[in-house]
Amino acid sequence: MNRKYRKTIIAGNWKMNQLASTIKPFMEELKVNMPRTKTCDVVLCAPAIMVPALIRAGKECKIASGAQDVSCFEKGAYTGEISATQLADVGVKYCIVGHSERRQYHGEDDMLVNAKAKALLEKGIAPIICVGESLEQREMDLTMEYVAYQVKAALAGIDATQLRRCVIAYEPIWAIGTGKTATAEQAQEVCEGIRAVIRKIYGARPARAVSILYGGSMNAKNAAELLAQPDIDGGLIGGASLKPVDFATIIAATAQE
Ligand code: PGA
Repeated sequence: MNRKYRKTIIAGNWKMNQLASTIKPFMEELKVNMPRTKTCDVVLCAPAIMVPALIRAGKECKIASGAQDVSCFEKGAYTGEISATQLADVGVKYCIVGHSERRQYHGEDDMLVNAKAKALLEKGIAPIICVGESLEQREMDLTMEYVAYQVKAALAGIDATQLRRCVIAYEPIWAIGTGKTATAEQAQEVCEGIRAVIRKIYGARPARAVSILYGGSMNAKNAAELLAQPDIDGGLIGGASLKPVDFATIIAATAQE
């Protein structure tokens, strides 16, 4: 983390878990376990149907609400889709785009991720842009090349002012939900590389100000070490964000200098 130049963000990704009726007890337990002074922004990305309930319940703990996906279209005949305007209308502040599960199960490519990020930015929602390599790519030593391509493609046509709202999440696919975390060194290396890619496009200052999160089996035990890395500005947390005590522990781990 480097709090001097950028925000520290702990974002939970609930995926297709939790219920509107379990939000209140979750928040109550989180509140009891949360550090008194928060040293990061806390976000919870819930299934869209639960967002209004999450916003109501999250107010007291100052938790920003996030969505997990958005349509790249503004409005119209797109049955089942949700637009950035609709997300903004109910108070969504962040939205994940390009999660590897969307890429894998819904065939989302880099162009679509770029279009979704732009749609969000236009409505004032911060995109959390996910990138990350597969195990095969890591074993073939293609990690940085591949991730650099994903970052460039996702940010195409986004100007430096809009970049200020963007968050990048580095999530190696082999570490997601597997219990296998990237080592702090591996995660730092790629996050540093992502910042270098952004520096090349936008220059030193904008690159210094972008928050880059690590995601992939981050938990209450390993969070402190990952967050101690200079280019890791927070976490995108799946499994551990479903457990209020663990999530609170990760939030508390951002208190280190
Ligand atoms: P995980 O998920 O923490 O359960 O590995 C992270 C993510 O997919 O964002």
